[in-house]
Amino acid sequence: MRIGVLTSGGDCPGLNAVIRSVVHRGIADHEDEIVGIEDGFLGLIEGRSRRLTLEDVQGLLTRGGTILGSARVPPEKLRDAVTSRAAELAAALGIDALIAVGGEGTQTAAQLLWENGLPVVGVPKTIDNDIDGTDVTFGFDTAVHVATEAIDRLKTTAESHQRVMVVELMGRHTGWITLEAGMAGGAHGILIPEKPFDIEAVCQMIEERFARGKKFAIVAVAEGAHPAPGTMNYEQGATDAFGHRRFTGIGNRLSMELEHWLGKESRPVILGHTQRGGTPTALDRVLATRFGWHAVEAVHAGDYGQMVALRGTEIHRLPIAEAVARLKTVPEYRWREAEAVL
Ligand code: F6P
Repeated sequence: MRIGVLTSGGDCPGLNAVIRSVVHRGIADHEDEIVGIEDGFLGLIEGRSRRLTLEDVQGLLTRGGTILGSARVPPEKLRDAVTSRAAELAAALGIDALIAVGGEGTQTAAQLLWENGLPVVGVPKTIDNDIDGTDVTFGFDTAVHVATEAIDRLKTTAESHQRVMVVELMGRHTGWITLEAGMAGGAHGILIPEKPFDIEAVCQMIEERFARGKKFAIVAVAEGAHPAPGTMNYEQGATDAFGHRRFTGIGNRLSMELEHWLGKESRPVILGHTQRGGTPTALDRVLATRFGWHAVEAVHAGDYGQMVALRGTEIHRLPIAEAVARLKTVPEYRWREAEAVL
C-alpha cells in the first residue's frame, strides 16, 4: 500500500518516533511505500510530499520536533478542503490511506476526511494530554519532566532570595501538566483552568507558609487558569485566526498581584515552548513507537475512521468521533489529591 503520514498542530516530543515507527513497520513488515506529507494539512492541501525510506528515519527516535514539519491551518480553510476535495487530495498524492498524527483539531479534520472518502487512521498527540479517548498522549511525560525540573531549580534561587516564584506552564483548557509537575516538584500552589482560583486564598496559603518559618513559595499556574469571578481583575484575550484564545499572561499578572498583596518579592517564570522542545523521555519514545506500529496495523486491517489509543497498558482502536467528543479535563478528585500534598 501507499500510506501517507502527516503531523499537524503544535509539535510535540515523540512525533519523529511515530514517523520512524510507521516507516519501519510499513516498509519492513508490509512492503508499503510511506509518503511523508509536509507541514501537516497545509501540505496535504498543497500536494507537498516526499517518499520516506528507512535511511530517512535513522536517528529519529531521540529527536524532538517533526522532520515533516507542522502547521496550523485556519479551520474554515481546512473544513472547505477536507469536505469538498478529500478524495482529490489523496489522488493527487497517490496515497491509499493516511495516518494523521495530531491533537483534537487534527483528529476532527481526520474524521471529516474519512467521512468524505479519504481512508484515515488517527494517532493522538498533544503535550496537554487533553484527548479523552486515550489515557495519555506522548509528549505529555516529556513536558512534565521539563516543568518539574524547572520547579526543582527554582526552589533554590527562591529560597536564597526569600521570593515567591510563579511558574506558568502550558495547558490551554486543562491543567494536566501543571497538576503533575506541581505535584512532582512540590509546588505550594497549583492553579489550573478546571478550578478558578481565589487570589486571597493563594495569599493566605503563602503567608501561612512564611509564618511557619519557610523562606520561599512556588506557585505553578497553567496558562489557561483564571481567577474566580469577582476575586481578581484578569481578562483573557481575543481568539486568533486558528480559533485559539490568546492569553494575556496569567503568570506575570499573578506574580504582580502576589507581590502587591504580600509585600514580598515575586518573580514570574514563563516556561512556554521549552516544554515542547528537545528529546522525548523514554516513556514518550515507547508510546509514540507503539502508536506508529498500531496505526500501520489499523490501516492494513481497514480500520478507517479509528484512532489508536492507550487504555491501561494496551493499545486499542476507537472511532475518532468518539475519541474527541469531549476534552479530558482534570477531575476534582485529582486536584483534591494535589491539595493534600501541599
Ligand atoms: O496544544 C499544545 C500547546 O502547546 C498548548 O499547550 C499551547 O497553548 C499551544 O500549544 C501553543 O501553541 P503555539 O505553538 O501555536 O503558540
